[in-house]
Amino acid sequence: MSSEKYQLHVCTQMRQGPNPVSCGNSGSKDLLEELKVEVLKHHLDVDVIPTKCLLLCEHGPNVQFVQDGKKSLMGGNVWNRVSKDSFPEIIKFLKNRLK
Ligand code: FES
Repeated sequence: MSSEKYQLHVCTQMRQGPNPVSCGNSGSKDLLEELKVEVLKHHLDVDVIPTKCLLLCEHGPNVQFVQDGKKSLMGGNVWNRVSKDSFPEIIKFLKNRLK
């Protein structure tokens, strides 16, 4: 099922030199697919979609929660240095928000 109400935006921006630091260069494209599977596994009505730079490049890969099209960099709605180890925290957050 698709939802426009709840989204996870995964930064997949890629940069090339002289400063190649970017989420895309930190494996975020694989992360996007893995996170889609994780959200489905938990039957959460959340779209997991790629997005461009969130201006937090040094801390990537970055994932942002967006509700009703509203983005916020505050209040625990952004996860930095996301890996599969971050998934339990993200899933827990989503379950609380979607109650
Ligand atoms: S490249 Fe992902 S936040 Fe800038």
